[in-house]
Amino acid sequence: MTEQTKLGGSFNFPGTSMTVNRVGYGAMQLAGPHVWGPPRDVDGAVAVLREAIAMGVNHIDTSDFYGPHVTNQIIKQALHPYREGLVIVTKVGARRGEDQSWIPALSPKELTDGVHDNLRNLGLDALDVVNLRVGGITGPSEGSIEEQFTVLADLKRQGLIRHLGLSNVTAKQLAEAQSIADVVCIQNLYNVVHRSDDGFIDNLAKQGIAYVPFFPLGGFTPLQSSALDSAAASVGATPMQVALAWLLQRSPNILLIPGTSSMDHLRDNLKAATIELSREIIADLDAISGVVAQ
Ligand SMILES: NC(=O)c1ccc[n+]([C@@H]2O[C@H](COP(=O)([O-])OP(=O)(O)OC[C@H]3O[C@@H](n4cnc5c(N)ncnc54)[C@H](OP(=O)(O)O)[C@@H]3O)[C@@H](O)[C@H]2O)c1
Repeated sequence: MTEQTKLGGSFNFPGTSMTVNRVGYGAMQLAGPHVWGPPRDVDGAVAVLREAIAMGVNHIDTSDFYGPHVTNQIIKQALHPYREGLVIVTKVGARRGEDQSWIPALSPKELTDGVHDNLRNLGLDALDVVNLRVGGITGPSEGSIEEQFTVLADLKRQGLIRHLGLSNVTAKQLAEAQSIADVVCIQNLYNVVHRSDDGFIDNLAKQGIAYVPFFPLGGFTPLQSSALDSAAASVGATPMQVALAWLLQRSPNILLIPGTSSMDHLRDNLKAATIELSREIIADLDAISGVVAQ
């Protein structure tokens, strides 16, 4: 099995020369507790990133508000100068309060400053992909994103951003953004239990746009389900590996960015694409969220 097959095969972001393996890595867990300040073990965080790359990961998701700044600085420390073909996707649209809160930062100045913060802390002249993050952590809320997306489209024209994506958005907001500039990926909350984006994913697949679920393993409250446990027992994997394998089988435009600060969990997660789930197991897993299998 080639490195690419082991990581779920490849995906080409639409209208770009960027091709990534479907199993990538989400860097949020590399900052300290509550995504604040440095981790207890900086060398361990650096080692996790280097191992991910050594195992073939070429898609990393990050943001400068993780830490804040810390996660990007660790990525730079571990991986700069970056390997040819590595795609680093970041996001703007929030900032952190002194009390560790997550505050929307969507004014033109805040978005522009966010792009420059990412460039500086990652040590880059241009960002591969920037997601405009709107909505809340639990889901999107309707409303125009024209002003915010136009700011990012302008920064793209200036050469600071290569491609654009969106996070925590609805189909209507995607359509509005697409009238301004091309969108290559969507990053919303989705996993085997939380499936409100089922229809949206199918629509994006038709357009060839990547759907990159955040909290693929449940995020701060990792998934727990007896269906995951029994599926894991029957395929000889862990419940988390099954949750990731289910996402890979759900739709070919789904890319994985599971987050971990643990070397063992990283290695487990990168094996998810080698697990094949039968139709019966998928039907059992679909039942967790009340979806009727086709
Ligand atoms: N756009 C947005 O608004 C948004 C919001 C949240 C996150 N994100 C992005 O999405 C990425 C993924 O989200 P996430 O990291 O928050 O959540 P996640 O991937 O769903 O889950 C991470 C949690 O699962 C644990 N874990 C990971 N692998 C495991 C394994 N094999 N076995 C057992 N436990 C495991 C991690 O702990 P250990 O460290 O102990 O492994 C951590 O507690 C983030 O890194 C970030 O880049 C985006």
